[in-house]
Amino acid sequence: MAKLVLVEACSHTPFLFTEPSKWNVIRNARPTSEKNPWTTEEENQAMWDRTRVAFDVLKQKMEEAKPDVILCFGDDQIEQFEFSNFPGFAIFVGEDYEGYKTFARQGFVPGARKGFTEKTPETWVKVPANAAFAKEVAVGLVRRDFDLSFMTEEANKEHGIGHAFLRPMSNIVPDFNIPTIPFYINCFYGPQPSANRVYNLGRAVREIIENSDSDLRVAVFGSGGLWHTPGNPESYLNEEFDQESLNCVKSGDAKAFADHFDRYLTEPIDNYASGTWIDGGTGMYNGIGSGTGETRNWIAAAAVADGTPGTVVDYVPIYSSPCGAGFAYWEFD
Ligand SMILES: [Fe+2]
Repeated sequence: MAKLVLVEACSHTPFLFTEPSKWNVIRNARPTSEKNPWTTEEENQAMWDRTRVAFDVLKQKMEEAKPDVILCFGDDQIEQFEFSNFPGFAIFVGEDYEGYKTFARQGFVPGARKGFTEKTPETWVKVPANAAFAKEVAVGLVRRDFDLSFMTEEANKEHGIGHAFLRPMSNIVPDFNIPTIPFYINCFYGPQPSANRVYNLGRAVREIIENSDSDLRVAVFGSGGLWHTPGNPESYLNEEFDQESLNCVKSGDAKAFADHFDRYLTEPIDNYASGTWIDGGTGMYNGIGSGTGETRNWIAAAAVADGTPGTVVDYVPIYSSPCGAGFAYWEFD
């Protein structure tokens, strides 16, 4: 029987992979607001240092758990998929994939989105997956009435697999030597699956792991969030929303986490959307989208761990993004 050995979740905002000396350069590209305090370079450095400590904790926990495979919940932001065909759920069932470790494009400063970064051993990596186990998860979910898409290979090899899967692992599994299966949940672009649907998915994944005839040690990862609405000039950080999410992590109550998120299923949490942040620009609202929508990846991970209290390693409010950078794990005997 396979064994669930660890669940982890963390944010993957570009600010976690960009030197803090550049944070205010990026921050300067949009207006300051009362809701979003200015932070000095020293304060930014202190925040960055906290995130290094948090990443190290997740790295160490991963090393100690010795998983044979990691199932990673993440989302696509027009990296593999296009709006010509955008799945709600999808799993990678191939043997391996490639992609940029952190950034597909040069730099993360205003106006720098020009052309792909050169593919060198420093920037580009090939990652093993686990086709047999991924197929077991795929079949198990379809049998449990989840209609998910599958990928035997990358749809867009030039871009490589998305940021959600490689960015956190570049710090947590820096050698990329643990087979990692990308599992896509549409988080960013409406209409997304509800958090309760995602909760049920996570519970089903737990069942599939526990019923697997393989003797794999399985870790599960949730990548993205917490609160951030990139691209909107009125962005601010809703720390209250994030704290309530983290309270659900600590209590081990993933259903409460999903209910907290789904409170805004039909009506946006805030009307500051002068632009299209809340539904990712599709005009089809179904719950919180944009970067904050990635909290669904945490809910899926929390649902796999449902009933086990989690540990919040840290929560760093990066106002210059703004993004709530969270780090958490759940351990099992
Ligand atoms: Fe993201």
